[in-house]
Amino acid sequence: MSQLWGGRFSGETDALMRKFNNSIFFDIQLWEADLDGSMAYAKGLARAEVITEEEADIIQDGLDAIRAEFVQRQFEVKSGDEDIHSAVERRLGELIGDLAGKLHTGRSRNDQVATDTRLWLKRKIEGLREQLDTLQGTMAAKAIEHLNVIMPGYTHLQQAQPVRFSHWLLSFAWMLQRDKDRLDDLTKRVDVLPLGSGALSGNPFLIDRVFLAHALGFSALSSNSMDAVSDRDYIVEFLSWAAITQLHLSRLAEDLIIYSSREFGFVELDDAYSTGSSLMPQKKNPDSLELIRGKTGRTVGSLTGLLTTLKGQPSTYNKDSQEDKEPLFDAVETLSMTLPIAAGVVRTLKVNPGRIYDSMDSLMLATELADYLVEKGMPFRDAHHLVGQIVQQAIAIDQPLFSFPLAAYQKFSDLFDRDLHERLTFNRAADRRDSIGGTSEAAVKAQLDLLRDLVDYDFDEAISDAL
Ligand code: ARG
Repeated sequence: MSQLWGGRFSGETDALMRKFNNSIFFDIQLWEADLDGSMAYAKGLARAEVITEEEADIIQDGLDAIRAEFVQRQFEVKSGDEDIHSAVERRLGELIGDLAGKLHTGRSRNDQVATDTRLWLKRKIEGLREQLDTLQGTMAAKAIEHLNVIMPGYTHLQQAQPVRFSHWLLSFAWMLQRDKDRLDDLTKRVDVLPLGSGALSGNPFLIDRVFLAHALGFSALSSNSMDAVSDRDYIVEFLSWAAITQLHLSRLAEDLIIYSSREFGFVELDDAYSTGSSLMPQKKNPDSLELIRGKTGRTVGSLTGLLTTLKGQPSTYNKDSQEDKEPLFDAVETLSMTLPIAAGVVRTLKVNPGRIYDSMDSLMLATELADYLVEKGMPFRDAHHLVGQIVQQAIAIDQPLFSFPLAAYQKFSDLFDRDLHERLTFNRAADRRDSIGGTSEAAVKAQLDLLRDLVDYDFDEAISDAL
């Protein structure tokens, strides 16, 4: 019997059952965290005088040798290896003999796997956070490059009011800022050490858990061993974070897919982020963006999948929980590709101000007309109604609002005056939105200043590259 638990068994495990039970083919990803956890645990056992310092050193040397095998991609998985934990223990035995069997004293794979997964995730979070900063920085640099390009702002995908292109793009940088905040917040709950909880009831060998936490770089200790071995909330939180972040990128992708279509032509995607058609020679498709949008579905699926896996499990650890890792790994992998792809798309995006300007309907100035009347003393509701009638006429005679002569306006209201036409430009309309968070030049610059403080990115280099 090669299994860690073989002693109690006299019959062989069914071959398909072995395959069904094994997690090594995916949890091998945890190798580094598993070795780090075991290193710390060996030291902890020596401090608790369960093993001698010499024994701890031998174990550590063995673990170091295994680490080298992994680094050199020479670690060999054997058919009896159920998961990363049993694989490492098996290999340690091959290298240092029976002493390997002391490492697991007081430890269970239940506290071990929870420790490994948290350690692994903490490290991945650092990389994701950097990728978020880079994407935000890329957006901000692009916004600076095209600060004053005015474009149609949409609601219901209908032209609504003029906005700055930079304002639109920065709206996504702010979504990502919330994602960064959420990531920081959830990291506090990832950063908790379960090791020393045993299978479920704690560790009887006077293991110093504060020492373990310190050795592994955890900021806090779990306070209840039963909770510690079954808690997967931190993965649910992470997956929900991942789903929200992907969703933001999906919406950016959707906008850009629309804006890069022939009908819009606001932007053009770089060849580096497009692909062609096997049949239609003229096609240049925004596959990067479609994949960003498409992969959102799989991350949302990972979240709902894990929630469903956890629901209804009795206390404490159940093998169901082994199903936590594939969705987690997949979400991390998916996002760590999505974020740099999105950054590449934004960085190389060609903006076409001419096409944007040509698309703009003068009716987006209707609110300006109403505001004008309000400034001259008309109650907003009346102004809204009256401008609605002007709009009707503009549509009927197919003329833009700025081409109506003053006399035509005065037929609707004698409040219209000589200062009217200078008001009727998209730029003026945008620059009047000067409240905090608005689309005026000054307000967008203020947003950029705020972001520059919040985003770790080399703006000066990116801007000088772009300009
Ligand atoms: N591979 C297992 C998992 O990922 C490790 C824990 C196994 N624990 C147990 N009691 N069988 O969940």
